Amino acid sequence: MSGYPDYMQESIRLVEKTRSERLEKGYPLMSAEEKSEILKKWHPDYKEGTKRLLKIGPSAGQLMPHEVADILEAHPIINPKDIDLTDISFDLDILIIGAGGAGLSAALLAHESGIDPDRILMVQKLRLGDANSKMSQGGIQAADGTDDSPTRHFLDIMGGGRFTNKPELVEVLVKEGPDVIKWHESLGVMYDKNPDGTMKLEAGGGTSRRRMHSCKDYTGLEITRVLVDEFLNREIPYVEFTAAVELLMDDKGQVAGSVLFNMDSDEYLVAKAKSTILATGGFGRLHIQGYETTNHYGATADGLPLAYHVGAYLRDLDSTQFHPTGAAYPEQIVGQLATEMLRSRGAQPVNKFGQLFVHSLETRDAESSAIIRECYERNNGIITPTGMRGVWLDTPLIDLIHGSGTIEREFSAMYRMWGKFDIDIRREPMLVFPTLHYQNGGVEINTKCETSVPGLYAAGEVCGGVHGKNRLMGNSQLDLYVFGRRAGRFAAERAKKIEIGKLTLDHVYRYERWLSEAGIKTDRRAPLILPEYRGKRTLEHKIKIL
Ligand code: FUM
Repeated sequence: MSGYPDYMQESIRLVEKTRSERLEKGYPLMSAEEKSEILKKWHPDYKEGTKRLLKIGPSAGQLMPHEVADILEAHPIINPKDIDLTDISFDLDILIIGAGGAGLSAALLAHESGIDPDRILMVQKLRLGDANSKMSQGGIQAADGTDDSPTRHFLDIMGGGRFTNKPELVEVLVKEGPDVIKWHESLGVMYDKNPDGTMKLEAGGGTSRRRMHSCKDYTGLEITRVLVDEFLNREIPYVEFTAAVELLMDDKGQVAGSVLFNMDSDEYLVAKAKSTILATGGFGRLHIQGYETTNHYGATADGLPLAYHVGAYLRDLDSTQFHPTGAAYPEQIVGQLATEMLRSRGAQPVNKFGQLFVHSLETRDAESSAIIRECYERNNGIITPTGMRGVWLDTPLIDLIHGSGTIEREFSAMYRMWGKFDIDIRREPMLVFPTLHYQNGGVEINTKCETSVPGLYAAGEVCGGVHGKNRLMGNSQLDLYVFGRRAGRFAAERAKKIEIGKLTLDHVYRYERWLSEAGIKTDRRAPLILPEYRGKRTLEHKIKIL
């Protein structure tokens, strides 16, 4: 029995017919000109009317999606008059906001840098480890293969990011990559290995060498498991279901902690800290242009308004990453990730006639654009019962190439997820369409993870600059740990040296002034904390391509 309706099964028969010929012939990579042309015409970043220039603050004039501008051109949640700044619930050296890969790494390195665990606090609006980091499937890049080097990795990242990346951040990322893998292994991460004990390495879109390290298709889950264990072993304090709703400053112009909101007791709490680290993740749940997302429920970009209220610079928010292969069917999992590793291992994107129309491992921006074009210009996609369009990702090729049992062994998450809907990806392809995956831009940092405001550090997806305008697979996993660790170290160094002055929330009044001077009249408030779905988006795909 198949979970696909009859009309899809008819198309699958065409996919089966062309399989061996496609496998033999493949499809050429795009030239630079072809790539530039397809991006301009079909990548959602280039769609007119989807962005605006930000009107207020230090990054006024930057172009960004309306959904992002909306949360920056919004009132802060709190009224400073409601917060008693003399009633301090936590007096800390280091406050870490967010408990995914970057936050956990920051906590571990702050501790290793000599900060007493009781002087560190991690706050998380959901549960410990709840983040996109945990949902990462395919892998983590690091240039530790015998034919590889950090220089090659650097060039791949810069090319993938269309040379808009901040080179000094990329340099740090690639140089510290191999150490991160060793660190993970020393803590207990079980990376996939070859029979001879060497690291199993695979390619990704835009990589010139095989440097993707994986833990089946549960890579982020495995790494998070180990980091959470280590964090708990060190007895570093943390609070769950507690959101940062506004940063605190002091009378010396430094960030000095945060106002927290306990979502269980509906209470505001004051956390005073010498260094504050934002590790709040990305913006998938803003559903830019109506796209479905691979992202965690908590991915509401809270770090952007928090940082912006205190005057931190932002960058590269005009570009958004759409992962080429989100589920387009069945309806229950629309938008969920079908890992790029499926294509690394041989799965090909094909249209409803079974034709291959793009190389399987173009960079994500180009691969996504080709799929959108196939569905909307050439009309060669499958239309689902709810009106989504999609192309086939021909997964049975994987067992054909690597031997029976490969899918079950290496893609157990995918196999089980689709299996729940009676789709056996060993025998039938997956129906896929691009899905909102990653916030390429964000808060500007330097190599010490310092933002432009003293006392405020940032690491992970909340930041911009590392990946420029297009990230390659596996580099966000690396980014989390390289920059999470750095944030912990440099925040600890600072905390040993400075004193906090008199706490203030004057920046909230300043922000209100900016809004009013720009003539912005709105009842929007930010950070959002949780996405809002009531009354919307049920069995309805609002994405407008044309
Ligand atoms: O396709 C994937 O497994 C996603 C990985 C990433 O975004 O790095």
